[in-house]
Amino acid sequence: MKIILLYGGKSPEHDVAILSAFSVISAVYFDYYQVQLVYIDKTGQWVKGPLLTEAPETDEVLRLTWDPTGNVVEGFSGRVIGAGEIKEDNAIVFPVLHGPNGEDGTIQGFLETLDMPYVGTGVMTSACAMDKIMTKYILQAGGIPQVPYVPVLKNQWKENPKQVFDKCEGMLLYPMFIKPANMGSSVGISRAENREELQNALQEAYLYDSRALVEQGIDAREIEVAVLGNDDVRTTLPGEVVKEVAFYDYNAKYIDNKIQMAIPADIPEDVMEKARDYAKLAYTMLGGSGLSRCDFFLTNKNELFLNELNTMPGFTEFSMYPLLWENMGLKYSDLIEELIQLGLKRHEMKAALHLNN
Ligand SMILES: Nc1ncnc2c1ncn2[C@@H]1O[C@H](COP(=O)(O)OP(=O)(O)O)[C@@H](O)[C@H]1O
Ligand SMILES: [Mg+2]
Repeated sequence: MKIILLYGGKSPEHDVAILSAFSVISAVYFDYYQVQLVYIDKTGQWVKGPLLTEAPETDEVLRLTWDPTGNVVEGFSGRVIGAGEIKEDNAIVFPVLHGPNGEDGTIQGFLETLDMPYVGTGVMTSACAMDKIMTKYILQAGGIPQVPYVPVLKNQWKENPKQVFDKCEGMLLYPMFIKPANMGSSVGISRAENREELQNALQEAYLYDSRALVEQGIDAREIEVAVLGNDDVRTTLPGEVVKEVAFYDYNAKYIDNKIQMAIPADIPEDVMEKARDYAKLAYTMLGGSGLSRCDFFLTNKNELFLNELNTMPGFTEFSMYPLLWENMGLKYSDLIEELIQLGLKRHEMKAALHLNN
């Protein structure tokens, strides 16, 4: 069987996705699979690379070269293709793409249209989990605790900024966190201590989306639970992201490496259980299949707030998601195999449903 590894992508997390993709191919069971590389570059161009029959030694093989005019040219490792050309039988797509255009349901919808099985959550779950406002509404419906928030559309803010500020200040205390609804990797997110900073933060957020979210800032630990499964949903013991910095921003996450993990998190057992229950409930309410990482805030009074679900979490072998499973006794290679089986099963089940209709 063929795994079509779709990696890179247009999002700011492009480079992280390449690292994750390399970890994935290093761990694939090549006795059973061949891996077809398909790279999406930062402009959104699709490039087909070599078909691998064994694990490569370095990530060099993932860094394809190609002729920009689209010709097949000797000496290049890849060639530009139309996205639909990835379609083939007896293959499953493994999208290792983070953020908008990868994790937000668009690729998933495209793969549904091609009628190809793929790893990870489906269209609706991906789209809702990527949208911070939609996630809030769904968690609210499920009675899952979250920090207080005010959604603010760009138009409302433009037409009547004072009304927006009054509403935020009426419902929330400073510091507030301001986020574009549809982004990831802390891009466009700021913390505001006063009205002037709130004003600037909204302006920044609207560079990325016309919908923004203003949230109550809290002083909290960051706890994460890994979720895996289709109908039968399993969760891990939580881990903690131990921060040296107050705001887990893009630099802290990916550049300065100022993040350490504690697995399992050093928190009371009942809090662990609660986090796992909420993670499972949130995943189920969002119609999850495949995988997600569910992120919480935990205050020093042991209050838990669900922050977000990441449907394609960092996936290098040193990332939280695989390490949380490793701690439960599921090793990285088996995790990948399991994700492939879950993707195939979902596709089969869907096909069977259509037949019955
Ligand atoms: N309400 C909040 N209070 C305190 N810190 C926050 C809050 N919201 C976000 N943060 C900080 O900002 C980081 C990024 O925010 P998050 O909502 O997780 O967005 P992203 O989708 O970019 O990961 C969090 O990991 C946390 O460190
Ligand atoms: Mg986050």
